[in-house]
Amino acid sequence: MTTAAKVLRCVISFSRASLSPAATVQRELTAQLRLRCISSSRTNGEASVKVEVENRRIDASNFMNKTKLKLTEVDVGNSLRTEAIMSPSIGILKQTTIMDEGSRPIYLDMHATTPTDSRILGGVPPVYTGLYGNLDSRTYTYGWETEKAIDVSREPVVKLMGAHPKEIIFTFGARESINMSIKCVARLYKSKKHIMTSQTEYKCVLDSCRHLQDAGFDITYLPVKNKGLINLEHLEKEISQDTALVSIMTVNNDIGVTQPVEEIGKLCREKGVFFQPNSVQAVGKIPVQVGEWIDLMSICGPKVYGPQVIGACYIRHRPKVMIDPLLYSGGPERGLHSGTLAHPLVISFGEAYRIAKEEIKVLPSSPTSPA
Ligand SMILES: Cc1ncc(COP(=O)(O)O)c(C=O)c1O
Repeated sequence: MTTAAKVLRCVISFSRASLSPAATVQRELTAQLRLRCISSSRTNGEASVKVEVENRRIDASNFMNKTKLKLTEVDVGNSLRTEAIMSPSIGILKQTTIMDEGSRPIYLDMHATTPTDSRILGGVPPVYTGLYGNLDSRTYTYGWETEKAIDVSREPVVKLMGAHPKEIIFTFGARESINMSIKCVARLYKSKKHIMTSQTEYKCVLDSCRHLQDAGFDITYLPVKNKGLINLEHLEKEISQDTALVSIMTVNNDIGVTQPVEEIGKLCREKGVFFQPNSVQAVGKIPVQVGEWIDLMSICGPKVYGPQVIGACYIRHRPKVMIDPLLYSGGPERGLHSGTLAHPLVISFGEAYRIAKEEIKVLPSSPTSPA
């Protein structure tokens, strides 16, 4: 892992002293800096992971003298006040400290997960108490109402990524979408026995691939270059007549690198190979369009200020990607999702995507990270 990656993996926690009201911290300010570095290596096919934890005391007054930053009292709502000295974004500080008056470390790893946006919660209680018809009850109003609400919530998801409503299947989260995409494509297209992914993919992708490896598939785990990007020439070289699917994530959850998904997708299309980017950290944060080159794509709620345990799978309709469910339940989402959908979560998810579409800021430069 690169030094930059190690730094990004560091979990920084500050003791309560740096967050308590200004009056009480005029005395010496100290904080605890906890560094957690994770590195992995592979020798003779054996992988090993090393976790190093280092505790360091840092003197916050030194930091302030150097940077000339001043303690500023910030109203975080509900009559709570705290200081925004270390936080670049009062919005995040507000979300993460409001419930505990700053007693927890400041949370800045918005790639791993995000707090639920309070704006989507207002409409939720009436959904639980009023809209309780089972989606599968297709013969009376209560079921139809729920079905309609779900279809309305599909719209913002569809719009954000330029898909068609028929192409979005709600799931219990990205892991279900990933499993469905990798295992089902491999199962349905039996003549091809080769799948490609990268060594730095999310564990669920690697586990799904390993499962297929046990079942006789040949899996290529592509290495990445020193800043985390895959080598396109290497990818092209490894694609063969036997390749069924390429699964490369859009944005890496650990180091934040953005892969050139458009180029990868176009290459896969040219070679007649399915492409599935796991895009949980990308959609809603940077512009992602399914375009002509993405066949399957996984997304989820908690990465875009939506609720946990809700996600979706994009499945291309034209040309159609044939897919079968992981579990058979005769259920919703055209039989592809194995269980009754939690429609309050679907509605909140849709709302999070609606807000994301309104608030997404398009960076002036290309979102693709440098090699
Ligand atoms: C890159 C990536 N993919 C998938 C997931 C899993 O998402 P879910 O919890 O919705 O299954 C996560 C969750 O942290 C993730 O970081």
